Parts: sequence; C-alpha cells; structure tokens
Amino acid sequence: MTEPTYDLIIRGGRVATTTDVFEADVAISGETIAAVGRGLAAAKREIDARGKLVLPGGVDSHAHIEQLSAAGIMNADTFESATVSAAFGGTTTVIPFAAQHVGMKLPQVVEDYHALAKKGAVIDYAFHMIIADATRETVEEHIPALVKQGHASIKIFMTYDRLKVDDEPLLDILLAARQSGAMLCAHAENHGIIAWMVKRLLARGYTLPKYHAVSHARVSEAEAFTRLIGMAALIDQPIMIFHVSTAEGAKVIRDARGQGLKVFAETCPQYLFLTAGDLDKPGADGAKWMCSPPPRTHSDQEALWQALALGDLQTISSDHAPYRFDETGKLRAGPNPNFKQVANGLPGLEMRLPLLFDAMVSKGRLGLEKFIELTATAPAKIYNLHPRKGSIAVGADADIAIWDPNREVTIADEMMHDLAGYTPFAGRKLKGWPVTVLSRGRVIIDGNKCLADAGSGQFLARSGGEAAKPTGRLVADMDPERNFGAKLL
Ligand code: URP
Ligand code: ZN
Ligand code: ZN
Repeated sequence: MTEPTYDLIIRGGRVATTTDVFEADVAISGETIAAVGRGLAAAKREIDARGKLVLPGGVDSHAHIEQLSAAGIMNADTFESATVSAAFGGTTTVIPFAAQHVGMKLPQVVEDYHALAKKGAVIDYAFHMIIADATRETVEEHIPALVKQGHASIKIFMTYDRLKVDDEPLLDILLAARQSGAMLCAHAENHGIIAWMVKRLLARGYTLPKYHAVSHARVSEAEAFTRLIGMAALIDQPIMIFHVSTAEGAKVIRDARGQGLKVFAETCPQYLFLTAGDLDKPGADGAKWMCSPPPRTHSDQEALWQALALGDLQTISSDHAPYRFDETGKLRAGPNPNFKQVANGLPGLEMRLPLLFDAMVSKGRLGLEKFIELTATAPAKIYNLHPRKGSIAVGADADIAIWDPNREVTIADEMMHDLAGYTPFAGRKLKGWPVTVLSRGRVIIDGNKCLADAGSGQFLARSGGEAAKPTGRLVADMDPERNFGAKLL
C-alpha cells in the first residue's frame, strides 16, 4: 500500500486570499501548507470543507494580555485564556505587548512577558515593546539589542499619566527605532486636552462613564496624530497609528500618506460597531464600554469604513484590553466610580473576526478579499510576519480558519472564552462563524472544543522588514548636506 502523500487535507472548500476566491483542496505536511489545488492526493487525515470557506487564520496585531494597565490594574486574561479566546474567534497569530512602566528595565520586562507567553499561549505570538521610560540606557542600548533579538516594533503612549512619553523623549525613541529598523506604533491622543476636560467635568459633577467619551474631545486625536506625524517626518521614521476613532483623525492620516509619508494606521471593531451612546447606561454599567479613545458617532463609523476602503487605514485589530466588571477590574474604586477611576479597555480578541465577517462578508461591506487583507494579510506584512503568516500559500504556516458562512449566532457573554466575563457586543446576531481552526497544521479548535495545549504557541522573532524602512528622504533640518553640519542620523 502506498503511503499517503500529506499529513492532512482540507478538501473541497472555497479558499480565499486578498485577491482571489476559488475552490481548492489545501494539503498540509508537518506545520506548513504543502499544496493548494484540485483533486490532491490522499492524506493521513481529511477535513471535509464542502460548503465552507477556508481562510488564513487572523493576525491580531494589537492586544493587551496579562498586562498591567496604565492605572496599575492587571488585566483579566492570562496568555492561555486570551489566546484560547483568540483561537475560538479564528485568530492564529497575536501581537501583544511587553510593557515597560517607569523604573523598569526593558530587557527584564521582555523576559518576563516571554516567560508568561511560553507557559500559556496556544497560538503563535510576537511582542511590541512599550517604552514608558526613555532613559539613555533604554534608548541607546536596550532598544537596539532587543530589536536584534526579534522585537522589531515599539509602542509609545502620548497620554495616560503613568505611561505617556513627551515630545522630546519621543524624538529619542523615533530615532532609536530608525537606527534599529523597528516600526514605531503609537497611542496618539493629546494628554493636556484630556486632563483639562477630565478636571472640568469632574469638578462639575459629571462623573458617569458616558463623560469619559466627552473628556476625550475629538480634537485630542487629530492634534496628536498631526504632532506625531510631524515628529516622525523630521526623523524619517515609519509609524503605525493605533485605534483611529474619528473622521478628522482618518483625514490627517490620508493627508500624510498623500504626501508620501510612511504612516500606517489601524482601527478596531469598537470604532466600527459602537458609539459613545453605548456608554450611556444607568449607574456604572457604561464602564463596560469604556475604552480609549472612546467609540464616537455613526458618522465616524462611516468615515472609518471609507478610510478602510480607500486604504488610508490598513488593518483592523482588537485592542483587546479585558477588565472584569467587578472589584478586580472596572469597579476597583467601588461600585460607583467616577469615569477617571475606571480601567480603560474592552475584550475583543474573540469577536473581532466574527463581527467583521458578518459586516464585510455576510452583509457584503467591502467583501471577503478585503476582510482577509485587513484582518490577516496586511498586519502580517506590516509587522514582517508575511509570508509565513497571514495568507494561504504553499510554504506558509498552516494557520487556517474554516468558516461556516451560513452559521447564525447571537453573541452572549457566556460564550466568551476570555476572562473578562462579558462582551461589549452581546446580543448582536451574526452570520458566519469559524468552526475549525488550525495552528501550524494542528487542529486547535474543533467546533466548541479547544484541543491545544497551553504553551504550544511559538514566539515569532522578526526584523522590521519593508514597512519599517525609512523613505530615505530627510527633511532639511535633519539632512547633513543642508543643515549646517548637524550630525548624520
Ligand atoms: O482603552 C484602551 N484601549 N485600553 C488599552 C490600552 C491602550 O492601548 O490604550
Ligand atoms: Zn491605546
Ligand atoms: Zn491598546
């Protein structure tokens, strides 16, 4: 008897990439895709995918896992619970953070997060390094060394009292990113505007969660984007602007890209499906929908969809930041906290793809190919994980989500596998659901069962790649040919 050619075949499904949708079998040998075609030879095991869509597993490039928040509150998930919930939602690669707080040494921070992920993660992962303390040692020694070890993206906050980086250290970090070949990601909101609004609102007794949205005045986003883009242009450093929430913010990005600047940007489901009105609930309930920046208006949602369609925004991440609605999380300051006392963030790893599949594929907004691009291929490319991650192609890791496009599901808190205890999207009816999920050739989700072992996810070391390369066009102030002898970058 002849040996089967492959380890596993996913047979008879409709395979999709960012450009094509076609009927094909997908054959897997070991951990990678060995062949894509019709009538492929036998395998040791077969999955019948007739009537299903065979899609690349999602890449979620922004998630806070087992991380101390800006307010010093530990988020609800472990690497195991967060990545199990991601896998149930069809996501097979995640980029969480190794988060430095002031006074911490960055190499120790990275080592600590490595240990947590190694113990728990069930899908593959890389890290963005959060820099909150731009000491000379951090900037000149630790960043270059850690980028060389495969941590090729840095994140900074322009707001939050304990984490924010002011303009001058931000320039140091931008330069360190440029010299090391790393992407610079940013939470860009104007800290002064928000702090000023918070003080005035609280002083007048406006304490409910809904005033959190008011305190993040719309202009705080566009102003910080403009300032960040200016500083990045001065250094000629590519940047990724996280969680765009307003039409004005999207326009700032469109204009910068129109000038040829290397500015990338993402949005998240909460800005496409929620509004500030969701925070307007009795008592503290609205805290469940509190994140920063806050969800905005229906017309911002439309502007963001348009920006996605035009390519101004290239990815949709979850910004998963789970806090329980109890004294360990959102209600740590008591049952009736003022909005400033509530941890910011929403759980989202699990529902990111089903929400977007329903909107983009089932309801037809932008379509299946764009769904794959925004949620898998583009983040894999921008963070230099492609072609290993983010598409179905021969030689790629066999990270695959098989979707039943006809399965109808009503989202409920009890269905979630993270530890937040609720989802801000409960009650929504969705069409389309990931029923089988593979990570490097292993079936890790089979219907409602998770088959993956804690710690089976692997760290993905990566360099900065194409997206993180400077344009090479120095502005006059930084160009040694034109600026009267300033030092070379
Ligand atoms: O409200 C949010 N998004 N919390 C998570 C931390 C962050 O990235 O802002
Ligand atoms: Zn943020
Ligand atoms: Zn975040």
